[in-house]
Amino acid sequence: MQLLSTAEGDIRRAAEAIKAGLLVAFPTETVYGLGADAFNTAALARVFAAKGRPRFDPLIIHIAALEVLDRLADLSALSPELREKTALLADRLWPGPLTLILPKRPAVPDLATSGLPTAAIRFPNHPAALALIRLSTGAVAAPSANLFGRLSPTRAEHVRDQLGEKVEFIIDGGRTVVGVESTVLDLSGGGIPRILRPGGVSREALEILIGEVAFPGPAGVSLAPFSSGQSGPLSPGQLKSHYAPRTPLSLHSPEAMAALPYTPGEIYLFFSPTTRDPWLAGQTRQGVTLPLGSVRVLSPCASTQEAAANLFDLLHELDHLNASRIRTEEAPLVELGPAINDRLFRAASK
Ligand code: TXA
Ligand code: MG
Repeated sequence: MQLLSTAEGDIRRAAEAIKAGLLVAFPTETVYGLGADAFNTAALARVFAAKGRPRFDPLIIHIAALEVLDRLADLSALSPELREKTALLADRLWPGPLTLILPKRPAVPDLATSGLPTAAIRFPNHPAALALIRLSTGAVAAPSANLFGRLSPTRAEHVRDQLGEKVEFIIDGGRTVVGVESTVLDLSGGGIPRILRPGGVSREALEILIGEVAFPGPAGVSLAPFSSGQSGPLSPGQLKSHYAPRTPLSLHSPEAMAALPYTPGEIYLFFSPTTRDPWLAGQTRQGVTLPLGSVRVLSPCASTQEAAANLFDLLHELDHLNASRIRTEEAPLVELGPAINDRLFRAASK
C-alpha cells in the first residue's frame, strides 16, 4: 500500500490503478471509500474480499457527471412523478451525501448490485473523489473503506489500520467533513420515496424538496431505527451489528444517561455540554474523581452536524483507550440525529 496526496499527479496515478482493476481508497465528504471500476467484475470481487463483506450487500456506484447517471440507471422505468423527484434531488442535492436507489441498466454488473434490479448511485462532493472518478472510468463502486462490521473511516489512517495490506493506494485527504455515510433513498419502489439508511442529508432536507419521505422505524423512537425484521433487511447492508468499535458500547436515552453512576474504567460520551455539565456537577457533589478524558462530548455546540462530523473520529479515538465500556447518549431526533443514533444503535448491538 502506498499513501498518496490529493495533488493532481497522485490522483492520476490512482486513476490509472482503478483503470487497471486495482483498489484505491479515497476520501469523500462523508467517509473514505474503497474504490474499484464499477464495470470490472474482477475488481469488484476484490472489494468484497478486501472488506470481508458478504456478496449479498451491494455497492454504491460513484459518479462525477450527471450524464453518467443515464448509463447506470433506467429512469424511464419510474413513474413520471418519481422521475421528476429524482431529477429534482439530483439537481439540488448532488454533489452531496445522498445515494439514490434506482432501476438499473443491464450493463451494470450484478456483482455491484448483488443481483438486485436496482443500483445505488451517488455523486460525492469532494474534489479528490470527483477528480479520481473523472480521470478513471467515470463510475467507481465504493463501499466505506473499513472491514465489514467495523467503524467507518474518517481519516486515511483509519483505512491504513484496517485495510492497509489490501489496497494499492490510499489517497490522504485529511479528515472527512460530514462524518457519517450518505443517506440512502429508495426511489424504485413505486410509492413514496423511502429512506433505507439515514445519513448526511436529513429527512427534513429531503421533504422540503420532494414532499413526504418514508422513514421506517417506530415514529419518535430513536432506538431500533430499523429492525431488519420480517422479510429480510430493507437494505441488504442494514444489518444490526455494524459500525462496531472493539470496546463494548452502550447507548442511553438522555434521561438514563443523566442518572448513570460513574463506574471506573468506563468512558462517558455525552451529546453536548448541556447534558454533560449537570452530570459532572452531580459526580462532584458525591466526591467522585473522574480521570482526565473519561467524560467527552460529541458536539461542543450541541449541533447534530457537528456531532456527526465527530462521531466516527471520536469512536476510533476512544476505542484505543482500553476502556471497559463506552457509554453514549442518544442524539436529539432532528436533522442528523437519526443518522447518528442509527450508527450508535448498530455499534451497540453485539
Ligand atoms: O457515504 C457513503 O455512502 C459511503 C461513501 C464511501 O460514499 N459509502 C458507503 O457504502 O457507505 P457502504 O457500502 O458502506 O454502504 C452502502 C449501503 C449499504 O447499506 C447497502 O446495502 C446499500 O447502500 N445499498 C447499495 N445498493 C443498494 C440497492 N440496490 N438497494 C438497496 N440498498 C442498497
Ligand atoms: Mg459501510
